[in-house]
Order: sequence, then structure tokens, then C-alpha cells
Amino acid sequence: MTLSDHERHARSLLDESAWAYLFGAAGDELTLASNLRAWQEMTLLPRVLRPLAGGHTRVELLGRTLAHPILIAPMAYQRLAHPDGEHATALATAALGAGLVFSTQASAPLEEIASMFLREAGRGPLWFQLYLQHDRGFTQALVQRAEAAGYEALVLTVDAPVQGARDRERRSGFRLPQGVAAVNLDGLRAPAARPLTTGQSALFDDLLCHAPSWDHIAWLRSITRLPVLLKGILHPDDARQAVACGAAGVIVSNHGGRTLDTAVSTASALPAVVQAVQGAVPVLVDGGIRRGTDVLKAIGLGASAVLLGRPALHGLTNAGATGVAHVLRLLRDELEIAMALTGCRTLADAPDALATVHPRPRPPA
Ligand SMILES: Cc1cc2nc3c(=O)[nH]c(=O)nc-3n(C[C@H](O)[C@H](O)[C@H](O)COP(=O)(O)O)c2cc1C
Repeated sequence: MTLSDHERHARSLLDESAWAYLFGAAGDELTLASNLRAWQEMTLLPRVLRPLAGGHTRVELLGRTLAHPILIAPMAYQRLAHPDGEHATALATAALGAGLVFSTQASAPLEEIASMFLREAGRGPLWFQLYLQHDRGFTQALVQRAEAAGYEALVLTVDAPVQGARDRERRSGFRLPQGVAAVNLDGLRAPAARPLTTGQSALFDDLLCHAPSWDHIAWLRSITRLPVLLKGILHPDDARQAVACGAAGVIVSNHGGRTLDTAVSTASALPAVVQAVQGAVPVLVDGGIRRGTDVLKAIGLGASAVLLGRPALHGLTNAGATGVAHVLRLLRDELEIAMALTGCRTLADAPDALATVHPRPRPPA
């Protein structure tokens, strides 16, 4: 009946370590919990007797009209959840008219997924999530492959210069099983370790020497004709800087609580980012979206669309493509019901549904 039913059922199908990788988070998992709670605690103030006939969930995003404002977030190694992995997710996402953001660390070749996804007439957007690699030549070749395969935008993830301390995952002894790998990174050689002197940090004096910075955005834009969105923005000043660097959009995200524990919830960060961006580019949000009412609230706060993470993997675990499709169908149906019950004929009315009045977001240019 609900996305949480899918979660409960998926739990019974996976072993402890796959569960820990797919559904755990960093530290004490407080941000994971607060992402959920923040949407739940935001209340709606319904309007009645408004005309609703002919309503719809359509939104405009980067020059396209989408049937509804839901995209699947980039998630690595989906073959851990189901043998059909990313293929099943792509099939269901395209069929349900949702957008797909395909992870650099996917366990399926990016070309296969694109050709499957782009075949569906009613599909949503197809974007490629990029982690900048230490090897610029390799990164450039990866971007060129994504362009050639038909991906329509790049989503550069900027909130994970290092993996978070995912304690539950480490406790479970998680290792990628045979046959599940980041196949699109085949051929990438690990950077040569720098010899450290006493007192130097393996993190600051080695690993982070390869971390992306604002300068890399200009470089990335110079090697691609695709729009570049930045994923993992929480601070309004970073949102402003993203716009100044030519980003085509920002995604308010804390990586679903998988990087920095106790980072603010995305629902609480969203309004200031929307204000900072002033409609210059679309703002999207992810983290803790589990109900149609959550989607309505996000749009009401000024998001152009939302990304759905773990629930898609719960559906995938339970029933492959059918499970992902079911999750998307449930969420979209709930969104329509929430719109009708708050008096929103279209999502342009969503700000009126919020109990707390926020400055009315300016629609993106
Ligand atoms: C198993 C898993 C793998 C993920 N892999 C990536 C990834 O490769 N790249 C990325 O930018 N975000 C990744 N994320 C974060 C998601 O894109 C998204 O920000 C987050 O899951 C949203 O929160 P939600 O799961 O509460 O919906 C991953 C999340 C999960 C659960």
C-alpha cells in the first residue's frame, strides 16, 4: 500500500550486509532520520471548494515538460538489490514517465541503460551523475561516453570528497560480492599513494589532494555541451556560487544522510537555497521523500522536482522492475490525492498548501 510497506518487505529479503550498504547511513544515522522527520513535521493548510477539474502534475524542467516532478536519484550498485539492477530501474522509470539519474558507480554499462531508457516515448529526463575522478582524462572520456549515449545533463555530486563514516556498513563487514562492480570505471587506475611523512594525514595530504573544487566546474563546463547541475548543495552561499559558476541547476541534498551525519535536513535547507538562487536556475531536492504529501511540500517550498532514493531500491529488491514501477505509481497517486485535498489544481498552487507562509518562490527562468 505504501512506500514503507515496501521497505518492511525488502528488509526481510536482504542479508544484513547488503541491507547495511543499501539502506544504512553515516554515523548515528541522525540525518537519515531527520530528513524523514522534517517532511513529516511540515504541515499543510488545505483550501476547499476550489475548481480541480483538468488538474495535473506536470512541471517544466530545463526546457522540457515532465508528466510529474519525480526523478530517481543516482544510486550505486543496484545489482545488490536485485539481479536485474539498473536495467530494471531504468525500465520502470521510463515506463512511469519519471526521470532517471544514473550513477557513475552503477553496476551496469551506461550505454545499455541509455538505449533502454530513451526508447520509451513517455519517458522523463535522463541524466548522468558524475563523480570527478583523480584522472582528468578518464573523467573526460566518461563524460564523452555519457554524451554519446544520449544523457541530457550531468549531475556533479559535490558533497562526498570522501566517503562518510558509515558505521553500520563497516560493522556488517560489507564487501561487494562477485559480479557487482562499478563497470563504467573499468580501466581507471588508483592514484599512486603519496609517501607521507610523520604527522601527515592520509586524508588531507593524500586522498583530498584529488578532491574537486570550484575551479573544476569551469573545467567540466569547458569539456561538455551538456548542462551541469550540482548535487549536494545545502548552504545558500554555495547555491549562489553554483549559479555564478554557470550551473544549470542545484540539487539540495545531504546524500540521504550517507556522508556527514547531523548535517541539516534537506527540507529545512531548501527554502534558503530557493531564496538564494532567485529563480536563476531550477532547484531540486532529495532526502526523505516517502509520501505524496512530501512531494507537494517540496514543490510548495520552491523545488522544481524531487529525487527519490531508497524507496526505489526497496521496490527493486521486492519485485525488480515491477517493484520500482509500483513505488513510483504509489507516490504519484499520493501526490494527486494530496493536491486534490489541498485545493491544488496544478503544482503552481503548491505554495498555497503550506501551513507556514514562505516567500513565494520565483519560478526558474
Ligand atoms: C545505496 C545508495 C547509493 C547511492 N549512491 C549514490 C551515488 O552513486 N551518487 C550520488 O550522487 N548519490 C548517491 N546516493 C545518494 C542518493 O542519490 C540520494 O541523494 C539519497 O538517497 C536521497 O535520500 P533518500 O534515500 O532518503 O530518498 C546513494 C544513496 C543510496 C541509498
